[in-house]
Amino acid sequence: MNMFRLDHKVAVITGGGSGIGQAIAKCFGTQGADVHILELNEEGGKATVAEIVAAGGKAQVHACNVADQAVVVSTMDGIIKANGRLDILVNCAGIAHVGNLENTSEQDLDRIYSVNIKGTYNCLYAVIKQMKAQGGGVILNVASIAASVGIPDRFAYSMSKGAVFTMTLSVAKDYIHDNIRCNSLSPARVHTPFVDGFLAKNYPGREPEMFEKLSKTQPIGRMAKPAEIGSLALYLCSDEAGFITGTDYPIDGGFITLNN
Ligand SMILES: NC(=O)c1ccc[n+]([C@@H]2O[C@H](COP(=O)([O-])OP(=O)(O)OC[C@H]3O[C@@H](n4cnc5c(N)ncnc54)[C@H](O)[C@@H]3O)[C@@H](O)[C@H]2O)c1
Repeated sequence: MNMFRLDHKVAVITGGGSGIGQAIAKCFGTQGADVHILELNEEGGKATVAEIVAAGGKAQVHACNVADQAVVVSTMDGIIKANGRLDILVNCAGIAHVGNLENTSEQDLDRIYSVNIKGTYNCLYAVIKQMKAQGGGVILNVASIAASVGIPDRFAYSMSKGAVFTMTLSVAKDYIHDNIRCNSLSPARVHTPFVDGFLAKNYPGREPEMFEKLSKTQPIGRMAKPAEIGSLALYLCSDEAGFITGTDYPIDGGFITLNN
């Protein structure tokens, strides 16, 4: 079966040095894309690139803080100049914060805003002109179930993922006649270093117990595997998903609809 191929497509994946972004990058590499990873953690990005190349794919890492617009624009411009096009953007880089309104400081809010919201905006801003000029493109933003249901102690994080979803709608609407599709996907818990780091920081010594508890918040009884998110990302960015735009896809083991 020759479906879901990404041959000759230039794909940028932010946060591709770990977790979900890494799984998306590896999946896209396997499917023939020319993968470009934008990463704050260059070493993580290099490790992903090495895996893609070892499997016969094409990939490069670009050290980049998505929160810095000047750096994002020059990085994307470099990729466009070198390849003549940029077909797919996956905005996956993101950071977490645990806290309700009262224990979210102004600094916490600014930090979450600068990566999850402004970082997504910066990358969208830096690629949209090229996608228009070349006659189309595909954008996928990684949101979260926290964008659509109330999760305890996720005030700033939920706000940021709500913004990721609404940016998705705006871009999908404004560029629909430029042949640019824009969607988001919303995972429940995925077992990545993001989750392990969260447990180590917030529940030291109680990690196994809390891992079990978090696993069970998905009615399906476990967390997602990063590769499962990679597969949905592949579908949404493939030509086979050509009729899909302006939509958020929960990938949540029943979290949103079956938790009753
Ligand atoms: N893991 C989950 O349970 C889960 C659930 C829903 C949504 N998400 C979202 O999925 C995305 C990826 O999460 P993950 O679990 O793979 O996390 P992760 O921490 O394993 O990976 C995130 C990657 O983003 C990179 N990054 C962070 N800030 C950056 C910046 N300013 N510029 C460039 N790169 C930066 C990190 O270096 C890291 O490699 C995030 O947007 C997160 O909010 C995760």
